[in-house]
Amino acid sequence: MNAPLIKRPFDVDALRAAFPILGREVHGRPLVYLDNAASAQKPEAVIEAMAGAMRGAYANVHRGLHALANETTEAFEAARATVARFINAGSAQDIVFTKSGTQAINIVAAGLHIRPGDEIVLSVMEHHSNIVPWAFLRERKGAVLKWLDVDDDGGVDLAALDALIGPRTKLVAITHMSNVLGVRTPAAELARIAHAKGAPIVFDGCQAAVHGRVDVRAIDADFYVFTGHKLYGPTGIGVLYGKSERLAALAPFEGGGEMIDIVERERVTYNEPPHRFEAGTPPILEAIGLKAAIDWYEGQDRGAIEAHEAALRDRAMDALRGLNWIKLHGEAPDKGAIIAFSVEGAHPHDVAQILDRQGVAVRAGHHCAQPLMRRLGVTATARASFACYNKLEEVDVLIEALHKARKLLS
Ligand code: ALA
Repeated sequence: MNAPLIKRPFDVDALRAAFPILGREVHGRPLVYLDNAASAQKPEAVIEAMAGAMRGAYANVHRGLHALANETTEAFEAARATVARFINAGSAQDIVFTKSGTQAINIVAAGLHIRPGDEIVLSVMEHHSNIVPWAFLRERKGAVLKWLDVDDDGGVDLAALDALIGPRTKLVAITHMSNVLGVRTPAAELARIAHAKGAPIVFDGCQAAVHGRVDVRAIDADFYVFTGHKLYGPTGIGVLYGKSERLAALAPFEGGGEMIDIVERERVTYNEPPHRFEAGTPPILEAIGLKAAIDWYEGQDRGAIEAHEAALRDRAMDALRGLNWIKLHGEAPDKGAIIAFSVEGAHPHDVAQILDRQGVAVRAGHHCAQPLMRRLGVTATARASFACYNKLEEVDVLIEALHKARKLLS
């Protein structure tokens, strides 16, 4: 008989112990790292997995006939299987390893067969990585970009989306969670609307994959993109999920080794996906690190992490709402722990610098989302973005540091 499950309270200190960097100081103050939407810190398991591979089992993949090549290929393909399970893809072959989330979107954009007048529908709340690849198609192929507006909280109007999609729509491209407003989009609904008009949909999941569960089949995503370094994994690796028939229909992105079937003087034929999109030596160590990150994350109590992040968000939002010199940007009910704000009369860069002197790391700027900044009527904001390892007390440090910034800047 199985032992009954005992629910323990979430122990953030135990979780933090897995992250060596969190013990350090900045400017003589304990580090309060609230720039997780830009990049998250790494647990020892990731550091060790990558260093361990370099120490003990490393060679190039898919090419060798020797023991180390085989071991490394197994580790690399095991990472692909882990990613597939993590987002509930139907097959590991639907997972392409890329160098970044940005490159994953570029692979989709470059692979579409676009004729002048074909349309891409995207929202004004996209990160530049989900805008510029489509602008390339406008410049290079004559595509038309059609913009879906959002409300002040980042809410999308489903009827407006429906109206934007037409017979020339080649793709709908939209975030699953805004990197500025923290709002999650209703992914399954968006896909249903796109599919009803025969349009495929790509989701930018770089933030959503960190702050909740992603099930690409439940939301019926045609393509789904995320990155390793925000998910407690290494830089240098991103993921492109595609339904097998969608990946098969994309033209190859880069040419080189590994992505080919036969190379002759007169012609080249291509390997099947996912390898067709993995030209050159892939990010081997980074894939091993990403697997370690996902294994580590899945080994935690995910429900408790979600509740903890919600508590961080609520504590921060409540405290910030209480300050009449702070303007919050985005207060949707389904908002994750990413909070953009402005301090009355102060430039966000100055605010961030003063916070930094107190050990508090936030991002300030346009957050690679200039169309959204224009929509919000600002040029920049400050942004505090939380991770599973942040403590509730760190919210209080942020608020105290903001009081100091206000005093110095007003
Ligand atoms: N996309 C990252 C951010 O939002 C870099 O900060």
